[in-house]
Amino acid sequence: MTKTTMKATAIAPANIAFIKYWGKQDEKLRLPLNASFSMNLSEAVTTTTVEFSKNLATDEISAVNEVFSEKEKQRMSKHLDVIRKKARVNLQAKVVTKNSFPKGTGAAASASGFAALTVAAVSASGLSLSEKELTILARIGSGSACRSIPDGFVLWERGTDSENSFAHSLYPPDYWDLRDVLVIVASDMKKVLSTEGMSRVQTSPFLQSRLHGLPSKIKRMLTIFTKKDFAALGNLIEEDSLNMHAVMMTQSPPIFYWNSATLEIMHAVYEWHAQGLPVYFTIDAGPNVHLICEAKDEQKVVEKVRQLGVVNEIVVNKPSKGAGLLNQHLF
Ligand code: PMV
Repeated sequence: MTKTTMKATAIAPANIAFIKYWGKQDEKLRLPLNASFSMNLSEAVTTTTVEFSKNLATDEISAVNEVFSEKEKQRMSKHLDVIRKKARVNLQAKVVTKNSFPKGTGAAASASGFAALTVAAVSASGLSLSEKELTILARIGSGSACRSIPDGFVLWERGTDSENSFAHSLYPPDYWDLRDVLVIVASDMKKVLSTEGMSRVQTSPFLQSRLHGLPSKIKRMLTIFTKKDFAALGNLIEEDSLNMHAVMMTQSPPIFYWNSATLEIMHAVYEWHAQGLPVYFTIDAGPNVHLICEAKDEQKVVEKVRQLGVVNEIVVNKPSKGAGLLNQHLF
């Protein structure tokens, strides 16, 4: 059957990294300084429709429940250019996107956003790519977006060039019934975007020490996953998150993503450990805290968090499949 319209819609989850990515070998291609490992999040998703059309003089990019800045639109247009070039398509595109989570919550919108944009635009352009090729393209849009393409628990290989820095699934979502209780805290902090923040990673005296330990951390993570050793998983997740923030805080100029609520939750987690509740924290480039626990402890963790009084919103995520196409379009 020949395709009559150049239109497609994709949905993609955000992901939370258990071993984090912070720093690039190549800024333009977004090749990372280290491999990273993540879980896709069921309740933090982006849906995007892309239509290439000869009736457009320029890309028209908008969102259903938020407003994109000119800079954000330009970055998306640039990503469309990469796909247009690959598909030999010369048409401008209309793009409409919708997040399941409110803007400003910092719930990794760039990962789900660029994964959904990549899958929708590739399909709309008529290209037929493998999952590996899709992860490489998504990576060029936003590094962590490559981990939102494959299913479940995903490893992004460090690689040495664009072709061998890709993401692949190590386990499907139902392999381990984990929860990410995403705790959204109020913040009036000015956010340093991850692209900008990590461009100065080399200024941290602790970067080399972090990088040195990373290959063995990835190995430890893989062993933990074969054994499903939750305590070891939690300890490693916390260790790597704190490690990354130590690098961020010791860059020049320093970046402190935590606020007082972040710290309050971290201290509370240590107290809950002491009381015998197995829950661990991990934090990305913002003040929100992801609490990782097993399904059996989800309710207890949510109750404890609610009692804290510093929380705006709680989103409970299960492990999820990766990006995919949808039949229903946003326009
Ligand atoms: O790909 P970016 O620019 O969204 O960077 C993501 C960086 C962290 O979220 C802080 C860590 C990670 O590996 O997800």
